[in-house]
Amino acid sequence: MGTLLPNHPSPLKTLNPNLTSIPIRKGFKRFSSSVAVKPVQSISLGDITKPDFPILHQELENGKKLVYLDNAATSQKPTVVLEALNDYYSRYNSNVHRGVHTLSDMATNAYESARTKVANFVNAPQSQDIVFTRNATEAINLVAYSWGLANLKLGDEIILTVAEHHSAIVPWQIVAQKTGATLKFVTLTEEQVPDVLQLKEMISKNTKLVVVHHVSNVLGSSLPIGDITAWSHSVGAKMLVDACQSVPHMVVDVQSLDVDFLVASSHKMCGPTGIGFLYGKSELLSVMPPFLGGGEMIADVFLDHSTYAEPPSRFEAGTPAIGEAIGLGAAVDYLSEIGMQKIQDYEIGLAGYLHESMCSIPKMRIYGPAPSRTVHRAALCAFNVGTIQPTDIAAYLNTIHGVAIRSGHHCAQPLHRDLDVNSSARASLYFYNTKEDVDTFIEALKDTVGFFSSLE
Ligand SMILES: Cc1ncc(COP(=O)(O)O)c(C=O)c1O
Repeated sequence: MGTLLPNHPSPLKTLNPNLTSIPIRKGFKRFSSSVAVKPVQSISLGDITKPDFPILHQELENGKKLVYLDNAATSQKPTVVLEALNDYYSRYNSNVHRGVHTLSDMATNAYESARTKVANFVNAPQSQDIVFTRNATEAINLVAYSWGLANLKLGDEIILTVAEHHSAIVPWQIVAQKTGATLKFVTLTEEQVPDVLQLKEMISKNTKLVVVHHVSNVLGSSLPIGDITAWSHSVGAKMLVDACQSVPHMVVDVQSLDVDFLVASSHKMCGPTGIGFLYGKSELLSVMPPFLGGGEMIADVFLDHSTYAEPPSRFEAGTPAIGEAIGLGAAVDYLSEIGMQKIQDYEIGLAGYLHESMCSIPKMRIYGPAPSRTVHRAALCAFNVGTIQPTDIAAYLNTIHGVAIRSGHHCAQPLHRDLDVNSSARASLYFYNTKEDVDTFIEALKDTVGFFSSLE
C-alpha cells in the first residue's frame, strides 16, 4: 500500500513548469518543486503529486518547510486549477446563459461542462441532477428549506447521528422548529462509531428523512450508506448524505448508493472555495419549490407571480460562481486523471501509518475506531494528549515546527460533548501527503508534548 506501479499514468504532465510565477506571501521562501530522486518502487502517490501544489513548497518564517495536515478543513489547489481560474478571468470572463456573444458562449459552455464533469464524477444519471451551490452547507440548507418545508409536518421524524457536522444539524433544527418535525440522534458505540444498529431500529413509519455523513470529519469512520439508504427507503423516508469527507477521497457513486440527496464542497477536493454541489434525484428536484428567488431561476415573471425554470436553474438564482465552477471542473479532471480508487487505496495506507505512529505517543487519545476494526478509516486523527490544550498543541506545532493542523470542535460540538471533551486537535491528510510528512509531524508532536509536559 502506498506505492505506485512504475507504469502509473503520472499526473505530473499537468504540472505547471513555471512554478515561480505563482505569487507567495512575503517572507516565505519557496522550496524546490522538483521530485526527490528515489528508486521507482518507493515513489508514492504523495511524492508524485506534491509538485503539482505550489503552496506546499515553501519555507515558513521560522525557517521550517511547511507540512500541511489540515486537509479536512480545506485542501490545497493544484496548478491546473489555478490555471483554469486564471484562464477564465483573463480570456473569457463573461456572464453565463444570457449572452449571445463569444465570451458568454465560452463561459456558458465551460460552466455547463463543469456540471457534466461533477455529474460523471459521482455517477449521477444526468448533469441536470447537479445543482451548484456556494458550498455543502448551502446545499443542505437548500434541501432543508425547499424539500423540508414542503414535506415535513408535526409528528414526522428526521434521524441524524451525534457525529454530524453543524452544517447537517442546524438547518434541520430550524426546519423542525418551523414544521413541528422531531430530530432523533443516533449515539456512538463503545468503539466510537455511530451505532448503525441503533439507527436501523430508530427508523419507523414516522421517519421522513435520514441525514448522515459518509465519512466523519472527527472520528474518521465511515457509514454503510447503501444499507442505511435501503432501510430508509423501506419506510418511504428520504436519505441525505453529507459527503464532504468522502467525495474528495474515495469513489462515490450516487446510483449504486441509491441516495436521494448528496452534498459536497469543492474546496475540500482541490477546487476553489465558493462552490459546492447538491446531487438530487430528478424526480425529487423537479417537484421541489425554489430556495432563493431572482434572475436565472425563472421561466416567466409577472407583477403578481412568477413561474420557475426546470432544475438545476430553479435552484441557481442570480449570477453563479462561474470561475469557481470551472475551477471545480478542472479539479475533477485532475482527480479523475489520478484515479479515485488509487487515491482511496493510497490514503488507506496513510491512515494506518498515521494512526499507528500517533499511538506510540504516551497519553495519546485518538477518537474514532482503530483502522483494523473498520473497513475504512479516513486518513485523519482527532486527538488529545493528556491535559494539554489542543490549541496549544496546534500553535506550538505551527510556530516551532511549521506543521499545520487544526484545533477546536471542528464544527462538531455535540460529538465532542458525547466524547466528554470540549475540543480536540486534528491532523488530516490528503493524497499529496507522504509518510515522510507523517514522520515529521510525529517528531514535532513528540517535541510539543515534551515541551508542555515539562511545564506541568
Ligand atoms: C463532514 C462535513 N460536513 C459539512 C462540512 C461543511 O462544508 P462547507 O463549510 O464547505 O459548507 C464540512 C466542512 O468542514 C465537513 O467536514
